[in-house]
Amino acid sequence: MRITTDPDEVARDLADARVVAIPTETVYGLAALAGSPSAVARVYAAKGRPADHPLIVHLASTAAVDAWTSSMPPYAQSLAAAFWPGPLTLVLRRSERAKDFVTGTQDTVAVRIPGNALTREVIRRVGEILGDPGVGLAAPSANRFGKVSPTRAQDVVTELGEFLDDELVLDGGPCTVGVESTIVDCSGERPVILRPGQIGCEDIEACTGLTCGERSEVRAPGTLAAHYSPTARVHLIAADSVPGDTAGAGLIALASIPTPAGMVRLTAPDTSAHYAASLYRALREADALNLNTVFAIPPKGDGIEAAIRDRLERAAHGTT
Ligand code: TXA
Ligand code: MG
Repeated sequence: MRITTDPDEVARDLADARVVAIPTETVYGLAALAGSPSAVARVYAAKGRPADHPLIVHLASTAAVDAWTSSMPPYAQSLAAAFWPGPLTLVLRRSERAKDFVTGTQDTVAVRIPGNALTREVIRRVGEILGDPGVGLAAPSANRFGKVSPTRAQDVVTELGEFLDDELVLDGGPCTVGVESTIVDCSGERPVILRPGQIGCEDIEACTGLTCGERSEVRAPGTLAAHYSPTARVHLIAADSVPGDTAGAGLIALASIPTPAGMVRLTAPDTSAHYAASLYRALREADALNLNTVFAIPPKGDGIEAAIRDRLERAAHGTT
């Protein structure tokens, strides 16, 4: 793979149905034309991802959202107006445009307008080249299936370099949010959060005036119990119960928690936002340092903290 900062080069490749890694405000994505079955198939192959796991379609305008969806309830329109461009994915009834190879054969499609301006510009340029303003990019996180999402251009190369050839990575700098978008099922009467992210339940309820539903008919197959896993074993612990024998183990915790002697501090964020932004980099660092074990002290709270706990619990899944 080759890192570039040229959006034109990247747009030309995408328009040619090639695979390119793109920055978003959440994590880097591995993108392909969402209308091209062969390009999308290459994304699945590079990730090693099961074919029935649907992809998020990234769009540059609400007009494009209308082209990919068949209906949008008023509460979904409120969410779109409040949070797009931004780290929010809406699951909506699909239009003819959203084919089975993107939706995993479901009758819904996941769409989002990403917050990264460079990537929105790339989508617009692909639309210009193809003469199609509704053009969308299908882009899962640019990691191997079940592994840690990349938050820097170099992380994409480390993660996928051996599974791709001369494909480009558009360098947009480090991702500012650091955990994947909140996914909200908007195909029913009320919003249901399928995957927590920076935009929390309280934000959604305040915006829509509705209470978030608990259950959804919609399948989000990527939300497996084990996910976001580094090679190191991850253990979640409370701030007051750091085990005695931790020499050589990594520690992920807020800056207010000191590093016990002998532990390797992987990140010491001073806020929850910084915790999210540095979490995946810290998990990658643990593997780069060949650490066997990482202890993580999750933050308390219901917003981005809930998303951090969700990712840490999945990273720790199966660890005893
Ligand atoms: O922040 C993000 O959302 C990142 C960046 C690159 O945009 N993308 C991302 O994509 O996290 P991915 O493929 O790693 O996760 C997408 C999730 C999966 O769990 C998938 O099952 C769910 O979205 N999903 C996609 N389409 C869906 C649909 N029609 N119904 C329900 N869930 C869907
Ligand atoms: Mg992912």
